Amino acid sequence: MKRNAILPYVLIMVMGILLVAGVSTISIFYSKEASGDGTQEEGKEVALTPEEIYAQTCMGCHGENYEGAMGPALTNLGERLSDEEIREVLVNGRGAMPGNLVPGDALDEMIEWLLSLQ
Ligand code: HEC
Repeated sequence: MKRNAILPYVLIMVMGILLVAGVSTISIFYSKEASGDGTQEEGKEVALTPEEIYAQTCMGCHGENYEGAMGPALTNLGERLSDEEIREVLVNGRGAMPGNLVPGDALDEMIEWLLSLQ
């Protein structure tokens, strides 16, 4: 009788332990997976291509095909601007163009890419 009275509690305790162990195993599994993805994502962010930066940051104002929208078209930039002038615009902004949109380590590549737009 006494045993029978304790048994449900023991069962609940065992189930509780199993549940906690299960959940923590699953969460360790997922956190490993997530942090793996996270570092990959970070890796990607560091190595964003100029096209990706453009799509994320510039397209809204300069158009899907660099044709210009609220900002001017960005094709044949080399005819109007030098590397340094483009750098100046990207770093400091100009008029309604905000500065500091391109990460410093991506600037050179971005400028080169911008100058290649036809
Ligand atoms: C908020 C809208 C906006 C965003 C976002 C924006 N621009 Fe601009 N951009 C402008 C405007 C407006 C001008 C014209 C500035 C002026 O009045 O001289 C401009 C000018 C420029 C110029 C000089 C063009 C020329 O013919 O003189 C370049 C290069 C440029 N933007 C590149 C970029 C790049 C690259 C990005 C993304 C990293 C970007 N812009 C994001 C609005 C924007």
